[in-house]
Amino acid sequence: DIDSAAVDRAAVDRTAIDRAAGVLRGGGLVAFPTETVYGLGANAADGAAVTRVFQAKGRPPSHPLIVHLAGAEQLGGWVADVSAPARLLAERFWPGPLTLVLRRGGRVPLETTGGLETVAVRVPAHPVALALLAAFGGGIAAPSANRFGSVSPTTAAHVRAELGDAVDVVLDGGCCQVGVESTIVDATGEALSILRPGGVTREDLQAALGRPLAVPATSHIRVPGQHASHYAPRARVVLVEPDKVIAEAERAQESGRQVGVLLPPAFADAEVKAHAVVALPVSMPAYARELYAFLRELDQRGCDLIIASPPAEQGMGAAIANRLRRAAGPRPAV
Ligand code: TXA
Ligand code: MG
Repeated sequence: DIDSAAVDRAAVDRTAIDRAAGVLRGGGLVAFPTETVYGLGANAADGAAVTRVFQAKGRPPSHPLIVHLAGAEQLGGWVADVSAPARLLAERFWPGPLTLVLRRGGRVPLETTGGLETVAVRVPAHPVALALLAAFGGGIAAPSANRFGSVSPTTAAHVRAELGDAVDVVLDGGCCQVGVESTIVDATGEALSILRPGGVTREDLQAALGRPLAVPATSHIRVPGQHASHYAPRARVVLVEPDKVIAEAERAQESGRQVGVLLPPAFADAEVKAHAVVALPVSMPAYARELYAFLRELDQRGCDLIIASPPAEQGMGAAIANRLRRAAGPRPAV
């Protein structure tokens, strides 16, 4: 659910929305808030505009984008067909942090899908995103508004710091309330599966469908844009068991590293001899909401190593653990 107090700040500014819709029509780029993270949007039907998104992000053109729509009734032309279970999930979770991968419709250029015959679609639950979609009238292709491989932005300030002049307009909608990206469900075949855990939990999806959902172990190999290292801060990230976090952090700090710690709530009272310590919230939704801001903060405070422990993979814990594992993944040589 969207926190209404936080959204008031974004009190939809008609002039700004209309100007942004005009920029999209002209083939430009608009960064906008969603309930998950900020997106870097372009007209999804305009291959040249979509190409500018890849350039601004430094993202390889083979990585498919998500098409954002104003409502499920807009799916026509963007997808070829919608299976019964996909329709059920759309009805239950849209607007919201769920992305469905379906067969590509005729309105989607191959630039948007990175050459795939499938397309990812979602209806975001943020008043600014919905107002922009309504004013624009079409689909908006939008990846997260960060440089390729780095931490997704959850405030307008993050977007400006990272993309600056590469974006024509940044719409400020305050802090994103979910904080991690949407859950991506492959709904192209008979058996639905989760390609990326995110803002809608597996438990909620299963309850809606009345059956279990697979998380294919191969999904990160099969899907472009799912590299080992992703969602990564500048500092190296090392994951350990929760009860080893403090010892590991102090050992590394003593050996001369500038260590940042994501401290599990069970150890909140401990004195930790490290460069910077973030005391994690107890609730998983609160942790998800702040995860990327915590990683950015530790970078800003000059940490070169972050020690953390992935939470149990239940509820929103699954998305947090997934992002931490990816942040800790092997990095390309520079
Ligand atoms: O919450 C979100 O999903 C945010 C906001 C802005 O909506 N967007 C986002 O986009 O996270 P991005 O581009 O950072 O991640 C989208 C991922 C891609 O990395 C890719 O793995 C997957 O969606 N994807 C897109 N199209 C796909 C397709 N046709 N088949 C499989 N995976 C696809
Ligand atoms: Mg991204």
